Amino acid sequence: MNDLLIKKTTDFFQETFGDAPEKIVLSPGRINIIGEHIDYNDGYVLPAAIDKIICFAFAKSNSKQSKIVAIDLNEEFEVDLTQEIVLSEVVWTNYILGVIKQLQDKGFSFEGFNCVFSSNIPVGSGLSSSAALECGTIFGIKELFGLQIPKVDIALTGQKAEHWVGINCGIMDQFSSVMGLENKVIKIDCKTLEYEYHNADFNDYSLILFDSNVKHSLMTSAYNERRQQCEEGIAIVKSNFPEIKSFRDCTEQTIIDLKDKMSHDVFRRSLFVVKEINRVIQACETLDNGNIELLGQLMFATHEGLSKDYEVSCEELDLLVDLAKAETAVIGSRLMGGGFGGCTINLVKKGQEQQIKDKFSKLYKEAFDIELKIYDVKIGNGTSLYEGAL
Ligand code: GLA
Repeated sequence: MNDLLIKKTTDFFQETFGDAPEKIVLSPGRINIIGEHIDYNDGYVLPAAIDKIICFAFAKSNSKQSKIVAIDLNEEFEVDLTQEIVLSEVVWTNYILGVIKQLQDKGFSFEGFNCVFSSNIPVGSGLSSSAALECGTIFGIKELFGLQIPKVDIALTGQKAEHWVGINCGIMDQFSSVMGLENKVIKIDCKTLEYEYHNADFNDYSLILFDSNVKHSLMTSAYNERRQQCEEGIAIVKSNFPEIKSFRDCTEQTIIDLKDKMSHDVFRRSLFVVKEINRVIQACETLDNGNIELLGQLMFATHEGLSKDYEVSCEELDLLVDLAKAETAVIGSRLMGGGFGGCTINLVKKGQEQQIKDKFSKLYKEAFDIELKIYDVKIGNGTSLYEGAL
């Protein structure tokens, strides 16, 4: 599947610019097994890069002008690197403008480039196509102009670009897009950026994503609001218990003891965060010792918290998780990513995948008159140069 994408992208580059590209970059989307909305709360997360990617073809333009073509959107834009970089009204261009701006602000010097890209990461499904776009662009510029940018800094720069575009995200998406390894999930300590790989071995179960095919527009403002509420929560904790530095130092009781000092929303958000941090620690153990049934239960518990306490679900995602709960063949399910639409991630008994897919598609269509989209997940490598034959 990706071979075709690579060929399409390089052919398009050749037709558009008359020469073969100098560098081909592949940059993946991500899934997250567990640990939602805790990357910006100093917690741990357990994501992985997937085999759905953006393919980029790059070459120097030998001028200050850069031209970037989005094949799938049939759109292109130009940017003059000597001019001040400002936000545009075309959303996708901002991720690229954002990384150019961040690299310039960090003092990296580079010239104009031509770029063509095409993707098979579904957009708006919570698979972080924007992180793939940011990290792939940074990687391409780095390779073209020989910039020294360590991998973790690629992720941090991508995250800053995303902030510039308007969502005050954590580090999970960019980190997993850059650091992904085939068949491994990454446990990231979002406070220190230490990380370790764990085998993505789900025994008798397959990972399947059910895409609700909805994207509620609240996402950006609600996301930033959740982040603020958590900042308020931890500030209250710290002022009462000065020895506590972050949510990971709290027990559930710490938050419960402060209930009267917090608004109802801040209380529920804070309690969710403390519980979710502990679930990730447990989830890593379940993966290591093969107790996948327990992992499934932790995922259901995460969804419950995201829906009731963190309030980032929606009726479409809740229905998908309820359908999963009613099936013995599905041992875990939860909304994945920021919420308000996008996918649920599910552990489905091997051999029963098709039956579950058919049933969910039918029931989902009956409930909302929306087609359910379904993705089988393969865990792939992080952002890298393609060095195969063209
Ligand atoms: C979005 C953000 C991430 C993370 C998730 C929720 O994907 O970009 O940083 O906060 O939501 O876990």
